[in-house]
Amino acid sequence: MENAQALADALLTAEFTWDGVAARIGEPGLSGLARNSTIPAADTVGDDALGTLVRLWALGATVPRAAADAALPGLVPSLVRAGLLAIPDDGVRARVEIKPYATDTGWSGWVCSDLTPGLDGGPTRPRPDHVLGVSPASTSLAQLTIPDHVGAALDLGTGSGVQLLHLAPHANRLVGTDLNPRALALARITLALNGVAAELREGDLYSPVADEAFDLIVTNPPFVISPPSPERLTYREGILPGDELVRRVVVDGADRLAPGGTLQVLANWAVTAEPWEERLAGWVRPTGCDALIVERERLDVYAYIEIWLSDAGLDGSPEYRARYREWLDYFSALGVTAVGMGWLNLRRTGVDEPVVRVESWPHLVHQPVGPAISASFAQARTAREDPATLLGRRWIVPADVQQETLGHPAAADPEAIVLRSTTGFGRASRLDTATAAFVSASDGDLTAGQLAAAIADLLDVPTAELVADLLPRLRDLAADGLIVPARTPVQA
Ligand SMILES: C[S@@+](CC[C@H](N)C(=O)[O-])C[C@H]1O[C@@H](n2cnc3c(N)ncnc32)[C@H](O)[C@@H]1O
Repeated sequence: MENAQALADALLTAEFTWDGVAARIGEPGLSGLARNSTIPAADTVGDDALGTLVRLWALGATVPRAAADAALPGLVPSLVRAGLLAIPDDGVRARVEIKPYATDTGWSGWVCSDLTPGLDGGPTRPRPDHVLGVSPASTSLAQLTIPDHVGAALDLGTGSGVQLLHLAPHANRLVGTDLNPRALALARITLALNGVAAELREGDLYSPVADEAFDLIVTNPPFVISPPSPERLTYREGILPGDELVRRVVVDGADRLAPGGTLQVLANWAVTAEPWEERLAGWVRPTGCDALIVERERLDVYAYIEIWLSDAGLDGSPEYRARYREWLDYFSALGVTAVGMGWLNLRRTGVDEPVVRVESWPHLVHQPVGPAISASFAQARTAREDPATLLGRRWIVPADVQQETLGHPAAADPEAIVLRSTTGFGRASRLDTATAAFVSASDGDLTAGQLAAAIADLLDVPTAELVADLLPRLRDLAADGLIVPARTPVQA
């Protein structure tokens, strides 16, 4: 993009940054924009350069030409040529949105996307090739992305390019793909404004990267399960029936992983008569990858359909009821009784017998959850080790794990002892007496076998009996990262 650096400089000079705009329009302005209402922000934004840029690119307003020239010195003609601005008779207006964006690592920049439909109750129906701005789904994927440094990273269905901004600090090489050429054009602007280098390629699913392998693939694909329609919205739905697009994203993505590589998919899936855990595990097992599949939420078909009818701008339209009924009939024909929403994480470990963990985890997680997902793969492998290896290890309790004792204050002993992680998934486990003794003594000094013998002695039970009880609990604690192998070498 011509003049990207000059535009970024002008935006910075005017303090058109996440912090700058937040300070100017305040909480009412920000939450108003989150509700698609520009009035709270317009009331406080002012008329200086920052006020002009906010009106232009975040509020969808037409600004006087002189104000635009003052905020963007010498840039208006080239931004018109680049398709970012238009010059109607009454001033200057935006043709796309440029919004400040900041990550939880302190990075700050901008994301270019299509204008938000439905601002202030205006027309709500997006065009079929609409390019979404940063959505709650975008943020979810960014937060679950593993933060490990990688060689090559792919963002499938890059849209505005927001995931590439998140990947840039920890990937040597970036590739973004999209079926929608308009998305790639706007992603190119996002990348140029932020000085991020990535290859952008057009095409369906993995076809633009058919012969390549990646260390990390992240995707927020068009996962909405909807009946076929000529008005298909590319950002949210494909042409394949049911959740077949998501299945292909997962199965074909696994094929594109380098050894040790990770695939992370934010998705919706159909809940049918077949147990959902078996259905999704059935997608993943043949890939040979280890997997952590997490259902975060489940919606009944009515709630699901209503959300997406509204997203398409059909609330209050004459066809609302007919479209609703058509969608219900589609679900009924496919045997879809509900829709699951969550995360599919795969890792090509190269080890025989993949470990596939499928679970419903609707509980609060501590964000970003990416580090916990990364750690979960090694934890799952440790938990599978043979008894001799597990008992020969020295264990420690990670610093983020707390012990809670529950019961009446006057009771001699607690009713329950719970181990709880204060990060990541916030995993918790209720401990029996022997396991509580084992955990409290696990300071990396003695091996699990030595501790088991000492606890058996203390409780006056045969060691073999105690070990048989302890081992499955040890595996569960290790799988959840509530205890981890001590890093220090075993002393002779
Ligand atoms: C939900 S948006 C995600 C955008 C962005 N990655 C984010 O996280 O905000 C899905 C993107 O996938 C693209 N897409 C749709 N169908 C596709 C396909 N068959 N192959 C590749 N990309 C596709 C859409 O154009 C859209 O940009």
